[in-house]
Amino acid sequence: MEPSLLVIFGASGDLTRRLLVPDLFGLFAEKLLPEGFAVLGVSRTAYTDDAFRSLLRDAAREHARGGFDPALWDAFAPRLFYHPADLDNAESYTGLVGRIRSLCAERGIPGNLIFYTAVAPKHYVSLVRRIGEAGLSVPSPELPGFRRVVVEKPFGRDLESARALNREVLSVFRDDQVYRIDHFLGKETVQNIFVFRFGNGIFEPIWNRNYIDHVQITVAETIGVEGRGDFYEEAGALRDMIQNHLLQLLALVAMEPPGSLDGDDIRGEKLKVLKSIERVAPERAGEVCVRGQYAEGEIDGKRVPPYRTEKNVSPSSFTETYVALRLAIDNWRWAGVPFYLRTGKRMGRKVSEIAIQFHHAPSLLFKDTACGQLESNLLVINIQPEEGIFLRFGAKDPGPEVCVRPVDFHFTYREAFGARSTPAYGRLLLDVMHGDPTLFPREDTVETSWSLLDPFLRRWEEDPSRDLFFYPAGSWGPREADALPEAGGDRWRRP
Ligand SMILES: NC(=O)c1ccc[n+]([C@@H]2O[C@H](COP(=O)([O-])OP(=O)(O)OC[C@H]3O[C@@H](n4cnc5c(N)ncnc54)[C@H](OP(=O)(O)O)[C@@H]3O)[C@@H](O)[C@H]2O)c1
Repeated sequence: MEPSLLVIFGASGDLTRRLLVPDLFGLFAEKLLPEGFAVLGVSRTAYTDDAFRSLLRDAAREHARGGFDPALWDAFAPRLFYHPADLDNAESYTGLVGRIRSLCAERGIPGNLIFYTAVAPKHYVSLVRRIGEAGLSVPSPELPGFRRVVVEKPFGRDLESARALNREVLSVFRDDQVYRIDHFLGKETVQNIFVFRFGNGIFEPIWNRNYIDHVQITVAETIGVEGRGDFYEEAGALRDMIQNHLLQLLALVAMEPPGSLDGDDIRGEKLKVLKSIERVAPERAGEVCVRGQYAEGEIDGKRVPPYRTEKNVSPSSFTETYVALRLAIDNWRWAGVPFYLRTGKRMGRKVSEIAIQFHHAPSLLFKDTACGQLESNLLVINIQPEEGIFLRFGAKDPGPEVCVRPVDFHFTYREAFGARSTPAYGRLLLDVMHGDPTLFPREDTVETSWSLLDPFLRRWEEDPSRDLFFYPAGSWGPREADALPEAGGDRWRRP
């Protein structure tokens, strides 16, 4: 792989400190970074290179997922550079171009540049425009290499703004140069959904409406808004989690096998399934969606305050910290199979999982035995915190009577492969360096996801209190959300 210069805009911020640089350090430790690769951090704070390295050393010590080896850090740190600049000021870019040229020359980087938008979303458009105006988006005699741009989430806040952002970004870069990052897709377990389905002979034949009763996708967090109330007030759970992470998980579970492992074949199949999700008219949105907001409650024995008293949150806020949806996929494979999606903050347990509930076996044989009704088979793909898969099936309870009891087959990544796994941001950054877009949503996918959610957003804009119920922190969301699976004779799992 050719070396590149990663230019991170927003280098003094939380994302750079907590995730990007610790994960890059992890790649360095695993010897996955090309010789010559370097990072140039850009933000307004007046750090020197050394002050920047020292800031990131502390961050890596705290957040590096593979552990922190000081000697290894000393070998990595000389690859980190800093350039103070105000991105709102067009003149800043002249100095930036000069610094990029000199760094590429010093480090033998053949002009390959990756730009990363780790700044607030309101800066995305002007930043990309100015990269273009400064001549940095196209190869030049001094910087002849490739150009790629990584755009952080959120990619827009509704269909219209996502389209506008796509238009702006695509007026400077081609779509194959744009990497819209969704860090969920960098997780090993998420990539394993694809391998599990299409790399095994026994699951795909039963992966359809004839055998599957329904699917539940849960992403539950115990944390609240962690001081980012101003950001969250503008977002809410639907925009922050469903539009990207949960719809991408749904696409992986429900897509048809692609023609090849080519990035566009895979992304094309994911798009098709998102397009097959039934659209809901705004006036019917309340039938398939329930929102919630956490009130005061208790998590791990500690009292936690209500959302409305968090820093930078309005005391009369109607922003949802929980959302549940019942979606229907109108195609041959999935007709009649409900997909239940839910995500929330301050929930009872931190867990992300996909539960595939199979149809009941006929109970005729066992109806007069002590066990009565048989439980149906269940397959659960655990994404976090314990990465793995389990399959629940019926086994005979030992003893003279015939009785069937559910038991679980477990596979965990930790037991099967040890601690070996590349953290999500590291994996995705490596893909950007390689120029592999497979795990990055395309323009059409992002817009299709927003088009599915727009009816809900429009409904809540009309009346922000609509479909919103309060739930105690530490619970599994508002009780009203139970109605979504109950309408189909189903129940939420308690993971
Ligand atoms: N943090 C996360 O866990 C996370 C997760 C997923 C996505 N994201 C996304 O990543 C982006 C960054 O998030 P964050 O949490 O890192 O935000 P943050 O902590 O507020 O950092 C923002 C960065 O932007 C810089 N900045 C602001 N105005 C600037 C200007 N005019 N010129 C140059 N630099 C400027 C700030 O540095 P100075 O003040 O020094 O200029 C700071 O480095 C956001 O779009 C967010 O949605 C974040």
